[in-house]
Amino acid sequence: MTAPKSPAPASTAATFRAIPVDDLSPAEAASEHKALAQEITGHDAAYYREDAPVVSDAEYDALRRRYEAIEERFPGLRGEDSLSEKVGAAPSEKFGKVAHKVPMLSLANCFSDEEVVEFVARVKRFLNLGPDDEVAFTCEPKIDGLSCSLHYENGRLTVAATRGDGSQGEDVTQNVRTIADIPERLAGKGVPQTIDVRGEVYMAKADFEALNARQAAAEEKVFANPRNAAAGSLRQLDPSITASRPLKFFAYAWGEASDLPAETQFGVVEAFARWGFTTNPLMVVAKDAAGLIAHYRSIEAQRALLGYDIDGVVYKVNSLELQRRLGFVSRSPRWAIAHKFPAEQATTVLEDIEIQVGRTGALTPVAKLTPVTVGGVVVSSATLHNEDEIARKDVRIGDTVVVQRAGDVIPQVVRVIEEKRPAGSKPYEFPTLCPACGSHAVRDVDIKSNKIDAVRRCTGGLICPAQAVERIRHFVSRNAFNIEGLGEENAQLLFDAGLIRNPADIFSLHERQDEVRKAYFLRREDRARQREEQTGKIRRNVLSEEERNFSDVENLLKAIENRRHIGFARFLFALGIRHIGEVTSKALAKAFRTVDALSGTVRAAAPGRPGEEWFSLLSIKTIGGISSVALAEAISDHANMAGTPEATVRRVFEAARLNTAQRTALRAEFGKESEIITQLKRAARDRPSAEFEALASVPDVGPVAAASLCEFVAESHNWTLLEKLLQQVQIDPEKPQPVTTDSPVAGKIVVFTGSLEKMTRNEAKAMAERLGAKVGSSVSKKTDLVVAGAEAGSKLDDARRLGVKVITEAEWLTMTGD
Ligand code: IVH
Repeated sequence: MTAPKSPAPASTAATFRAIPVDDLSPAEAASEHKALAQEITGHDAAYYREDAPVVSDAEYDALRRRYEAIEERFPGLRGEDSLSEKVGAAPSEKFGKVAHKVPMLSLANCFSDEEVVEFVARVKRFLNLGPDDEVAFTCEPKIDGLSCSLHYENGRLTVAATRGDGSQGEDVTQNVRTIADIPERLAGKGVPQTIDVRGEVYMAKADFEALNARQAAAEEKVFANPRNAAAGSLRQLDPSITASRPLKFFAYAWGEASDLPAETQFGVVEAFARWGFTTNPLMVVAKDAAGLIAHYRSIEAQRALLGYDIDGVVYKVNSLELQRRLGFVSRSPRWAIAHKFPAEQATTVLEDIEIQVGRTGALTPVAKLTPVTVGGVVVSSATLHNEDEIARKDVRIGDTVVVQRAGDVIPQVVRVIEEKRPAGSKPYEFPTLCPACGSHAVRDVDIKSNKIDAVRRCTGGLICPAQAVERIRHFVSRNAFNIEGLGEENAQLLFDAGLIRNPADIFSLHERQDEVRKAYFLRREDRARQREEQTGKIRRNVLSEEERNFSDVENLLKAIENRRHIGFARFLFALGIRHIGEVTSKALAKAFRTVDALSGTVRAAAPGRPGEEWFSLLSIKTIGGISSVALAEAISDHANMAGTPEATVRRVFEAARLNTAQRTALRAEFGKESEIITQLKRAARDRPSAEFEALASVPDVGPVAAASLCEFVAESHNWTLLEKLLQQVQIDPEKPQPVTTDSPVAGKIVVFTGSLEKMTRNEAKAMAERLGAKVGSSVSKKTDLVVAGAEAGSKLDDARRLGVKVITEAEWLTMTGD
């Protein structure tokens, strides 16, 4: 294989972002605007609906700003569904919906003192005031939680809702009633007949730490940061869970109100405090930009000491009359702005790069740093993402680097300070062997796009200690060996006790049953002791614990014995080879019938497996396998003939019978003619052998899965293990599955979407296939039928748009007679 090439950029938006907005052509702007919208919508869903953001606030803000800058330069792009008109994400269907009579808007952001000065000037200009006229503003921390609107009727809390998409939120009334800071009844004078009090639900830092410690002890989900913990706790279907989570609330705004207790922002918030709400003590009134900035600095200095997370400071025009005159622009009020804190950075030395191997074999580079304080937290390691990032930033061991902690995400290495680089340092070479087991680590190819993945993965899944427990768990899972009693916890126990190091060991476990019993027993003892310590209660019946222990082990051993015979497809799937999922396993089992036949073919194919340059060519849209082969042949025939690069490329394209779209795609990817020739030559050098092509052309297999099988057999320890396994289990050759041809769905293309109740996805798929249907993964015009379960999303929308027939799970079961 040739040296790895940088993969194609992940998205068009990422490619464009290097171009200043002012230099974008209208076509580029339209394309980036669309790509950014998709990216932002994805982040919105992750943040608002799943409470699990994947990018830092700073990165998200940068995307938003770019999006808005593009719309500003090309207003034609600001269509009805522009994101600048929307806030947040549509409410989840899990909760009842609540319409906000006054929309819950968002705040515009700014990051510098100059922008604050400009905000104040803008407000004055809009109000037709001179620069010397005074306008007062409130200035308060921006709490990092989630906003909530509380509806009070005659002083009683009736409905509480999250922001949702700004006009419709989720009904979280019962959950909100469990929050001590939120009064059930408003006390004191001047309470209007109806009012929506708004503010932020959040979790204090100490409460967050304690909650995570409890969650970890109970082996429950731990939260990435207090905001996610607050959101996850508030958006619970079971209010008793919310009640057990320590949520808090600051009141700072309002929606619909029959009357207001004051004529200023500050005055209304003061009234909230009188009525029984907690309001933020750091709110002040300032009379100009300098006053706002001074208070911003003061809050910034106190940030690390506050008991809760904040991510900036909010300025609001104090007079409600002026607020009314200023009004709103798209999704935010003209009278307020959020001054966000910059991502916190510090400089330190990168002492080493450690490669961690994840449970699924991904090699992740982690920077080991001379400890440094970043925004009040000591940081000694930071993520370097992947090898392309290391190469792009040219990060070397010994370098002085800038590290950043953006809000809650893992610290990252931003850049290298090259002037401080020690003499004689060398570019970092990313290991190609797994540090945990020594197997080859390869870069994967995305099965859909054929693009080379940024992540390098260990190929020694079955013997790699870092992946062992995960592999064992997969090996025994329901659709693989289906051995009950070896879930994650027991697999970990037996692995730690040295009793199962790999799947073959499972079948010789009976020879070590005394040790297995001992491991189970010690765990029970350990747990009982912990319980005693926690509850102060001394347990009785030690013996019966031992007896139960005994039966657990008996059951496990029985379950293992029952699985010494297994179908070929299940066996293949159980091996957990990358890209060899259930469908591919079935296809391989059907085509080869026996392990010997398959391994013979894979061994013959392995030496001629394609390299990464080949996959780079395949990844170009419109260039499929056939054209790639034709191009490889054509370039070999024509590359050394005389003539200009232009003439060569023309001849090659003609010989390969490329159509116009394919020619354009190649030019767009590689650029100049000479570059096209170089890249095609490289791809041709990496092209697969005929033996490999034969394997890849098995229906439902394809080049990516075929390459993965080849990687597997290329590791000798995989063979050793496979042989051990074959001594323990007997593989039944695949029986051809009878397929019905007279069922109502025979020959039809069916797509399942949403969550099914009566069957798993896999069962549904197997059932459809048994009945002669083909199961598709996405909805297109060719789809005959969509079976939609609860919470079906975009596929259901696609089906409706394309007029494809949609039925429920129950209708499917009736129709197929199950
Ligand atoms: S005022 C019409 N004040 O920031 C504007 N918002 O980006 C009403 N937030 O959705 C919001 N602290 O979740 C306001 N002191 C504060 C805030 C605050 C946090 C959040 C809130 C809002 C988001 C706006």
